[in-house]
Amino acid sequence: MTDAAFDFDRYDRIRPIRWTGDALELLDQRKLPFEVEYVRCDSSGSVAEAIRALTVRGAPAIGIAAAWGLVLAAADVQAGDGAEAAAKLQPAIDHLNAARPTAVNLAWALARMRRVLAAAGPDWRDALEAEARAIADEDLAANRRMGALGAALIEPGSNVLTHCNTGSLATAGFGTALGVIRAGVAQGRINEVFAGETRPWLQGARLTVWELQQDGIAPTLIADAAASHLMKSGRVQWVVVGADRICANGDVANKIGTYQLAIAARHHGVRFMVAAPSSTVDMDTPSGDLIHIEERDPGELFGVGTVRTAAADIGAWNPVFDVTPHTLIDAIVTERGVIENPDEAAMREAFAS
Ligand code: MRU
Repeated sequence: MTDAAFDFDRYDRIRPIRWTGDALELLDQRKLPFEVEYVRCDSSGSVAEAIRALTVRGAPAIGIAAAWGLVLAAADVQAGDGAEAAAKLQPAIDHLNAARPTAVNLAWALARMRRVLAAAGPDWRDALEAEARAIADEDLAANRRMGALGAALIEPGSNVLTHCNTGSLATAGFGTALGVIRAGVAQGRINEVFAGETRPWLQGARLTVWELQQDGIAPTLIADAAASHLMKSGRVQWVVVGADRICANGDVANKIGTYQLAIAARHHGVRFMVAAPSSTVDMDTPSGDLIHIEERDPGELFGVGTVRTAAADIGAWNPVFDVTPHTLIDAIVTERGVIENPDEAAMREAFAS
């Protein structure tokens, strides 16, 4: 699939992050699908809070937002060169980095921004802004490439199940797993797209379903608990998901519930694909056991939206990611290529440099 062969304007119209020149506008994902509203951030602190509060979410998107957050922090800094600016901006970098722990794209984007800054001369401000723009542009290009690579693995006439939201809303545009699905639908390889609700925050029901509707694709929503039954019925051939961190041995952290999908997929002979840009690969973390899994407010489990559904005075545990061992993954797709049956050796070969 080349850019010329794919009508990106038809399938890729949502942009969750807009840079205005002096502020960052974020499509408020807490309000979708009922309100389509951008919030304006004019400080790195407000960007960090937007990441923490899930106004902007999805591994690549929070990296991009943090990069622009650093550009905002730089507006208040006077420095003669990049090294001096980098030292002065370190507290802002640390603050942005602490907003969420699991997706490596956040730390990756900030480290990349810091590297460019530290090497820059008196024009460090321009260098910083150009790097933020490059991070976003490269993400979009990577997603389009992954769409082509991932869709090619799917046999025509297949149905797929996805989890959480991995689309334009979670990236600079087009999406990772949802990019594969967009490309697969456009090529006639995918007939039906099933989307899991993704309790408790409902990224599937609120975001993925809405996003696919914008493309004219009509997904079928399922309760998370219906996934094994769906697989047993023979109605899906692939599970296609994104990632928040891919370790050196191919283990994958992604939205809570992904692991049980992988177990059920292997049991039922359904294939399991992870699509993520190389910015999600963390070769410094040897295995999934070492990933910091974010735990959020148990209150997120007590209801749906603002309506309480749980009994009063109860406890709850709310880990929002889990780790799928590489042995349950059939293919990891990045913009650099496809790794089938990922393991440490295959990851090293693909990402050693
Ligand atoms: O808590 P979220 O909504 O930020 O979690 C997002 C996910 O788990 C996605 O699957 C992942 O970031 C990949 S997005 C391209």
